[in-house]
Amino acid sequence: MSKIAILGFGTVGSGTVEVFYKNKAKAEKSTGGELEIKYILDLRDFPESPYTDKFIKDFEVIVNDPEVTVVAELIGGNTFAYDFVKRSLEAGKSVVTSNKELVATKGAELLKIAKEKNVNFFFEASVGGGIPIIRPLQLCLMSDEIISVAGILNGTTNYILTKMFKEGAEYKDVLAKAQELGYAERNPEADVSGDDSCRKICILASLVFGKHVYPEDVYTAGIKSITKEDAEYAENWGGVIKLIASTRKVNQRTEIIVSPFFVPDESQLSGVDDVYNAILVKSEAAGEVVFYGKGAGKYPSASAVLADILNAVKAGGNKNLIWEEEHPTDYIIDYKEQKHKFYLRSVRTDSIRIEKIFGHVETLTRSNMFEKEFAFITEEISFGELEEKISELNIINIIPVFDLN
Ligand code: HSE
Repeated sequence: MSKIAILGFGTVGSGTVEVFYKNKAKAEKSTGGELEIKYILDLRDFPESPYTDKFIKDFEVIVNDPEVTVVAELIGGNTFAYDFVKRSLEAGKSVVTSNKELVATKGAELLKIAKEKNVNFFFEASVGGGIPIIRPLQLCLMSDEIISVAGILNGTTNYILTKMFKEGAEYKDVLAKAQELGYAERNPEADVSGDDSCRKICILASLVFGKHVYPEDVYTAGIKSITKEDAEYAENWGGVIKLIASTRKVNQRTEIIVSPFFVPDESQLSGVDDVYNAILVKSEAAGEVVFYGKGAGKYPSASAVLADILNAVKAGGNKNLIWEEEHPTDYIIDYKEQKHKFYLRSVRTDSIRIEKIFGHVETLTRSNMFEKEFAFITEEISFGELEEKISELNIINIIPVFDLN
């Protein structure tokens, strides 16, 4: 019999326990042996829960129990989670986690410990909620050369953008709804600031390019500055605004960004709405592959956690999931070198002045424009050049344009 410990009984933890007992017979058939959740660790009391006999508050019981072979860390954050995960691995237990902050900041180190101890460290639920993405990238596209990964990686912000700009809802009402639905982080600032997407693209970049990319090295912008005026300009231009996280390999270096983008209607990402995520992976042999599904919420994440638990239980699991902890100092391309077309919305200016600075631009319109408001799309330029060019302009917003190639 394989005994499992669940750390954290919040949204994902409670979903995992519920789905585990619902699908236990099927799970046992798939692993070929009996499975049991022996402990659920949480500092809170759950007197109404059907699993009251399993709750404990002391992690030492778990780490010192040789019967526990798999630990599912579903606490989140980096404080207790890091210590518990590291100690579980060092004690020779496999660990699965949905914690993107932990994997994005400590992934290389924890994978190394797992390899040394000949156990698994899995984190399928850390990116894309219920979408299988880590395992397909690692196992199915392993023999292929991955060129780029780009997508909508945060369910909360995609839900907010969809409800605000397609249904006219107010930001604070939709955010409250996203929290109620269990999509948002405990501190939703991580969602709306782009940090959650940043952690996820760091995990994917580390996995596919083989060297750890740390969140502090990534240009990250969130959705708070996006207004309905920007959304209307995007619509008239022929697209939508989406929070995109993207990375690609340029020679031996890595380009990476998290930002709202103008996404043209022709892109497969433009129609991805509500809590859904989609990830486009381009590789040399397979071409373009798209992963799509619910990116947040109790049950989608629970499904990914359970898949990891079963994989860890199955004889041996997969011990080849690994990436290097260090990379050369210039491995991450400075965002100022990144080239895009850009949407700019300016005031107190006109086309003559703008064209003098930028050369040819594509002029955009919206209803009820202010006098002297001018919105346009530049030709392709780097962030660095853009910052120089706008220094004397009154710019309200800047959004890069998603490149279909
Ligand atoms: N807050 C995250 C999101 C949860 O909205 O995508 C899933 O990682």
